[in-house]
Amino acid sequence: MHQDMEKILISAAEIKEKIDELGRAISRDYSGKYPLVVGILKGASVFMADLIRAMSIDVQIDFMAVSSYGASSKSTGVVRILKDLEQNIEGRHVLIVEDIVDTGLTLNYLLEILKARGPASVRVCTLLDKPSRREINVPVDYNGFSIPDEFVVGYGLDYREKYRNLPEIYVLKKGVYKGR
Ligand code: PRP
Repeated sequence: MHQDMEKILISAAEIKEKIDELGRAISRDYSGKYPLVVGILKGASVFMADLIRAMSIDVQIDFMAVSSYGASSKSTGVVRILKDLEQNIEGRHVLIVEDIVDTGLTLNYLLEILKARGPASVRVCTLLDKPSRREINVPVDYNGFSIPDEFVVGYGLDYREKYRNLPEIYVLKKGVYKGR
């Protein structure tokens, strides 16, 4: 295990099993439709790549980048669009893919701006959910794992841009981020 990690929270095998399940559920729910699957960069990139390959329906993909935290790990509630969609979503079935829903502020903002563009529907799929941290109520349609309020990294999730490439989800050692 990486020396900065306290423990494995979710193994690669558990992640794969859950993604297969999510892919099946999404494929069933969107059967006969051609959804636009929107990955929120950068955290969701790894999850997104595996999730779309677990889907058996035709999908189109696009990405958005927003910044909610800056360099700090504490939410400020400020969300900025760094990269917008390329697709016009009017009349489309949009599925937002996130790595984690924490306070819900990012998702709340995203839902607001995407709904204003007149899509046929907007749903949310997240790999991780930290319900104890929620500051605003947001609908999560597909959730992989509800997790406790611990500092998690790996499988797309970072601390100061590091550890996104780790194949499992870990709890980061406190000494690594102490003084943040
Ligand atoms: C993370 C995550 C969500 C958001 C969730 O992104 O990917 O977008 O924070 O937090 P919230 O529910 O409190 O708003 P981050 O800003 O860390 O960017 P990244 O995906 O590029 O790492």
